[in-house]
Formats: sequence, structure tokens, C-alpha cells
Amino acid sequence: MADTNKKATLSIGNESYDLPILSPTEGPDVVDVRKLYGQADVFTYDPGFTSTASCDSAITYIDGEEGILLHRGYPIDQLAEKSHFLEVCYLLLYGELPTAAQLEDFESRVTNHTMVHEQMHRFFTGFRRDAHPMAIMTGVVGAMSAFYHDSTDIHDPWHREVASIRLIAKMPTIAAMAYKYSIGQPFVYPRNDLDFAGNFLRMCFSVPAEDYQVNPILSRAMDRIFTLHADHEQNASTSTVRLASSSGANPFACIAAGIACLWGPAHGGANQAALESLKEIGTPDRIPEMLARAKDKDDPFRLMGFGHRVYKNFDPRAKVMKQSADEVLDLLGVENNPILAVAKEVEKQALADDYFVDRKLFPNVDFYSGIILEAMGFPTSMFTPIFAVSRTVGWVSQWKEMIEDPAMKIGRPRQLYTGPSQRDYVDVENR
Ligand code: SDX
Repeated sequence: MADTNKKATLSIGNESYDLPILSPTEGPDVVDVRKLYGQADVFTYDPGFTSTASCDSAITYIDGEEGILLHRGYPIDQLAEKSHFLEVCYLLLYGELPTAAQLEDFESRVTNHTMVHEQMHRFFTGFRRDAHPMAIMTGVVGAMSAFYHDSTDIHDPWHREVASIRLIAKMPTIAAMAYKYSIGQPFVYPRNDLDFAGNFLRMCFSVPAEDYQVNPILSRAMDRIFTLHADHEQNASTSTVRLASSSGANPFACIAAGIACLWGPAHGGANQAALESLKEIGTPDRIPEMLARAKDKDDPFRLMGFGHRVYKNFDPRAKVMKQSADEVLDLLGVENNPILAVAKEVEKQALADDYFVDRKLFPNVDFYSGIILEAMGFPTSMFTPIFAVSRTVGWVSQWKEMIEDPAMKIGRPRQLYTGPSQRDYVDVENR
């Protein structure tokens, strides 16, 4: 972050205050308001943080106007085509693409942490069978704090490293266990001879009654979905993880907080909601009715999978996902998937509609992902858990970056108070 000699001047009444301007590697300059309250006795006000940078970070950069997403400088479409999820995990965690030896060592460490403590199996029996897998993951990941005490000291670099690997490695196992529990099938242990995506598919879909062969096409599609969801700057769940971690809470509890935030339909829950709304639309002739509902301010219905706080152009992940949807459905022999046809027609009609064009509402990463995941055999309730499996590396990378920053402070926003001024207590008989 380059300190420039540029400055902003804020005038309040007869007073003027100079505020430093900091320049990033990419993107807009920022006005440093850290000293503003001390100088001018005023707060800045930005609910939803639409114009506020909460931190500096070197991990991911998004250009919303151009539809660009870079992980440590590498464009997401290149990573999706040429890399694979665990290599992207290494890149996000350590900042550089690994050498062959570094990659082999990293993949070995992740592979050898995929099992969970055997006693964690008992947590699942406490849940109803119809519990949402995100409820289970929030609980079980938080409970990891009670098992892995040898990796909870955030000030110990080795603890941070082990906790990072454990979280990345165990999330697919826990997500698969949540799925198996929900359908009454036995848990499937991970295998060390399978890659990350293939292991996850086998833990979800294999049964003791027969052998299971990982389909390389599905495994590649699964790996690509993991890559596309890995990190995304200071989105709501990542900001949740950063804020929780700023108090010094252990990483497992903080990642559980991130899972809880991701569950919301405005965020990671949108992939489940998007497919459900496409199914509700059902046929192309109902699209105008649904678009009208999405535009109706009196109707809470929103076109799920459309719009984004940052992207005011196509989400580059949606482009890759759309292409992947065509490939996977074609390779699976799912001819003319009616939901994909509806999705493409919704996109076409929305992008010809001034309401969506004027507000720059384009398909986001969640619009097409559900179509692929459903074609792969996942129920909609597993869509957000899959998002969480992937985003864990982003949460963990951002957590490490913050904890390792000597300037780290506890996050504690201020407010614009609109309640009553001080008043005296009135006894109940006088009210
Ligand atoms: C993710 O932050 C991230 O990076 C998130 C994410 C990641 O990788 O971490 O990219 C993952 O969460 C993607 C987004 C998934 N959510 C959805 O698809 C849910 C549907 N989208 C919306 O809820 C909405 O677009 C948000 C929440 C994504 C963004 O909301 P903003 O930036 O706060 O924008 P807004 O709600 O102020 O909307 C601006 C206008 C409003 O209309 P006006 O008041 O100007 O008339 O656009 C309208 C909104 O009503 N609008 C929509 C809409 N999204 C916004 N209208 C209909 N359908 C929609 N989907």
C-alpha cells in the first residue's frame, strides 16, 4: 500500500482537515480516515460498507466495472482452466504458485488431515435428520475448537499453519458427513489415493453396497467449482471471519461464524435460492411474470443469482460456470436440461430489460452453479455447504493475513445514535 503525498481536505464549518490518500496496486485510492474522529470529532457513516475499505489485503482483487477477478494477480479464468483447487489454495495461502515439490508436499499435508476425530461423529446424531447441512456444519466446525487444542494459539505460526491445513482438509469430510446423515446413509471415510474433488464426490456418493468409481469428468467439474468459489475480497462472510478473529478467537470458531454468514440467501445461500427460483419459474412462458415480480418494490422476490455489490459487469466466475454447465450436462448426456434452458432465457430477457441493465444486475457466480451441482446429483441443500468447503481457503488465507499483520486491531465500528437522549428512571406507579 503506497503512501502518497496526495491528501483530501475535509471542511467542516470554519475548520479544514487534511486526510492522507493511500494508493493501492490496483483499484481506487482510499482516504485514510483513521485519525478523523480524533481531529474533527466526527465519524464517517457507511452502513453496508458500500464505500469503505475495512483493511488492506494482497490476496484477491476485483474490478467490478470490468468484471475482473485476480487471485494474487492471476485471472480467475486462467486458474479455472489451467490450475486446480489445491494449487489455488497454495497460491491464496502463501502468495505464489508452488513449485512441483512444494505442491506435492502441500497436497500430501492436506490429504493426511482429511479425517476428523472419531468422537466428532457423535455430534451428528444430535441433529434431526432433516437439519439443514449448513446448520450442522456451523455446529460441527465450531466444535473443532474442542478437539484441536494443539492448533488454537493464533500467535504461534505453527498453530496457524496446522489450523489452516486442518480446516481446508476437513471441511469436505464434514460436509459429506452432513449429507450422508441427512439421507440416512453411513459416513464414508476419506481416501488418501484420491484427489480433493474426487475424495469429496466419493464421500458423498459411495455406498458400502457397491464399489464407487470417481467419474473424472464430474471430478474435474467439482474441482473447477471449488476453484471458482475460493476467495472474493472482503465479502460478508470473509468480513465476518476477520471481525471474529480480531478479538483473538480461535480459528475454528471464526470459520464457524463465516459459515453462518455464508448461509444467508443474499450471500452464499443464493445458489440454493437461485435454482429453487428457476424451478419455480419452471417454463419460459412464466419468465415475464417472475421478472415483473423481481422489479416490483412491493414484492420481496428477487431474481436470485443476479446482481452483486461489486460486479457491475458480468461476474467472471459466472462466465466460466455457464461454460462448465454446458460441458457437464453435455458430457452427462443430460440433453436439453429444461432448467438450464430457463436459466439462459432468464439471462437473455433480464439483460434486455432496462430495470436490470440500468442497475447493472448481471448473473453472478450463484446463477449457474446450482444447475451443475444438481446435474451431478447434489440436493439443493448441499449447494451452500459446497460453497463453504471452497471458501474455507479464502477465509483462512484472509484470517492468516490479518493475524500476521502487526498493525492488527480489534474491529469495533462506531454508530450514528438515533435513540433517546439521557432521561431519568420513572417508577412504575408513575408511568
Ligand atoms: C455472493 O460480496 C461478494 O463478493 C459475494 C460473493 C462471494 O463470492 O463472496 O460474490 C457471493 O454472495 C453473490 C451474490 C449472491 N446473492 C444473490 O444472488 C441474491 C440476489 N442479489 C441481491 O440480493 C443483491 O444483488 C446483492 C445482495 C447481491 C447485492 O445487493 P446490493 O449491492 O446491496 O444492491 P442493492 O440491494 O442496493 O440493489 C440495488 C438495486 C435495488 O433497486 P433500487 O432500490 O435501486 O430500485 O438493484 C435491485 C435492488 O432492489 N436489485 C435487484 C436484485 N439485486 C439488486 N432486483 C431484483 N433482483 C435482484 N437480484
